[in-house]
Amino acid sequence: MKNIGFIGCGAMAQAMMPAIKTSGLDCTLAFSQRNRDHGRAFADRLGVRFVPNNSDLYGQVDVVVLAVKPQQLADLDLALAPGQETPLVLSLLAGTPLGQLRQALGHDRLIRVMPNVAASVAASMTVMAAGPGLSQEDIDLAKRILDTIGRTVILDEEGLDKAGALNGCGPAFFFQIMEACADALVALGIPRAISYEIAAQTMKGSADLALADQTHPAVLKDKVTSPGGTTIAGVCAMEKAGVRSGLIEAILASYGRTKEMSQ
Ligand SMILES: NC(=O)c1ccc[n+]([C@@H]2O[C@H](COP(=O)([O-])OP(=O)(O)OC[C@H]3O[C@@H](n4cnc5c(N)ncnc54)[C@H](OP(=O)(O)O)[C@@H]3O)[C@@H](O)[C@H]2O)c1
Repeated sequence: MKNIGFIGCGAMAQAMMPAIKTSGLDCTLAFSQRNRDHGRAFADRLGVRFVPNNSDLYGQVDVVVLAVKPQQLADLDLALAPGQETPLVLSLLAGTPLGQLRQALGHDRLIRVMPNVAASVAASMTVMAAGPGLSQEDIDLAKRILDTIGRTVILDEEGLDKAGALNGCGPAFFFQIMEACADALVALGIPRAISYEIAAQTMKGSADLALADQTHPAVLKDKVTSPGGTTIAGVCAMEKAGVRSGLIEAILASYGRTKEMSQ
């Protein structure tokens, strides 16, 4: 049984906690946050423990998930009482390097984590990067926790920042693609709600198939494009519009902005 505590209970913590709670992972969940009324209301709703004081929570749990905004890190005054063990810290703070976390928290039991909004439906693509010298036991524990909110891959810290341009920013790109696809069906006269459903499930089904099949996406595409058919006509239109290069540019631009913001 592991005791997991979230510090900060905003959008991301509220997406992650229900998924962890319903996953069957052998754990308890608690959290602290600034606004006590909101804290108590969320605790009642989800059936998890609210601890008003950050330091109390920090000293009581095995794993702390830091879920405040990066600029709020400096306000956290996290101290351990004598005899309390340093918790394993999973930091969600975007653009906050392990070195900065080490300075702020005064220890090395640190893992950076970049989840995405799909954590709320246990379908996050999460990237984690462990600090140097962390035990395999800590890394395995972090992965077990993160696997409850979706799928997890492990990269080094530089890789996490790069991958974040897709797994972190990507939902916005895919929502935009979904909207454009639905607009096309609406232009053809299909009702809006049905168009969105068709667009979303077609994207989801294609992604599920690619993950299950582990086949190169181009091979999967080739399987559904018959010579002279309807699909290849659409594929050619996509190429003419530069959809693939547009997506590559989008991800590179997001990574460029990540680098700018971390300076
Ligand atoms: N949202 C995403 O899609 C996403 C994706 C990947 C990573 N992240 C990262 O996840 C972290 C959280 O993001 P978010 O979107 O969940 O932010 P958010 O909705 O603004 O939540 C931040 C939470 O931190 C609490 N807080 C602030 N200062 C505090 C303090 N001194 N002590 C205790 N609690 C405090 C806030 O409580 P009050 O409201 O009471 O001030 C709020 O509940 C960020 O570092 C972000 O970079 C977010």
